[in-house]
Amino acid sequence: MTTLLDLAAGGAELSDELRGGLDRVARVFDDHLRSDLECVQGLTAHVARYRGKMLRPTLTLLSGLAAGSGRVSREHDVLAAVVEMIHMATLVHDDVLDEAETRRRGRTINALSGNETAVILGDYLISSAFHLCSTLDEPAVSERIGRVTTTLCAGELLQLSNRGNEALDERTYFQIIERKTASLIALACELGARASDASAAEHEALHDFGLDVGAAFQIQDDLLDLLGEEVVVGKSVRKDQEKGKLTLPLIRHLERMNRDGRQDEAREAFAAARDPERQAALVAKLRADGSIESAAETARELTARARARLGGLAASPARELLEAMAEAAVQRRF
Ligand code: FPP
Ligand code: MG
Repeated sequence: MTTLLDLAAGGAELSDELRGGLDRVARVFDDHLRSDLECVQGLTAHVARYRGKMLRPTLTLLSGLAAGSGRVSREHDVLAAVVEMIHMATLVHDDVLDEAETRRRGRTINALSGNETAVILGDYLISSAFHLCSTLDEPAVSERIGRVTTTLCAGELLQLSNRGNEALDERTYFQIIERKTASLIALACELGARASDASAAEHEALHDFGLDVGAAFQIQDDLLDLLGEEVVVGKSVRKDQEKGKLTLPLIRHLERMNRDGRQDEAREAFAAARDPERQAALVAKLRADGSIESAAETARELTARARARLGGLAASPARELLEAMAEAAVQRRF
């Protein structure tokens, strides 16, 4: 499975060290989820396959290497595994909401075993994440993590409350993506820095870097949902339109219209999701008026701002690789 680290391809020595770190994180993850029950083990083993891009654990380790002592310890491995487990829980629940069938080139849990199993497996993962976190005996860390899991649920609720909303504005879109996606990516960076005893300025910079990378990542994700092919992206596509969720390119396209035109066009976009010809016509319009390019440009601007936020950190191969990871988040096609 290609990781974002493969795409960012940093200096060979650091990449090797990181790959070793990611293997340790995967072991912590698997060991903690191991169950004596075959039905549970089978499901968690399937979810372990979702561990594809490893964006969040990579950012935790790199933030630990780029700030403070510049060394990573077992605490970083555990924190990275906790954040990845939370991420997995959200994906398992998200696929229920989206009625998605494919994730990381495999079948989703809901497609394989039904919604009931997927809901409880998501609960199992989130519960396991907090259990694993408790082994660190760091109440401040648990508090930060609890705050962010609440934030991402709130983001998802905000998104749900705007389902089918043809008048969704950019401000609300950014509130949704900041909460549902960027908050956890920011946490991954911040925790890595804190565990290396970074200064407040350093972990704040890394937190803000993560927020910008996270927003850029989600814009790219939304572009892939609109434009990508399932075989390349590795997951079900057109789910945003199918579920009545407007994303940045469509919001910018609709903004140019009057109220009636906007309503008709939004309804057409929602309906086009399952009709390749109508989808192609919609995409042609989005390209023609520059909405797709403008959304991609916003993702690039966020990436540039993310990189600038690292300016206060000492120059290091880890900082360089963080910058490359930010680029990889928007260049990826999967
Ligand atoms: C992916 O969105 C979804 C998220 C980033 C957040 C989902 C969060 C929940 C379902 C709340 C559950 C929370 C916990 C703590 C268990 P997407 O559909 O745009 O991305 P995709 O293309 O990868 O499906
Ligand atoms: Mg989804």
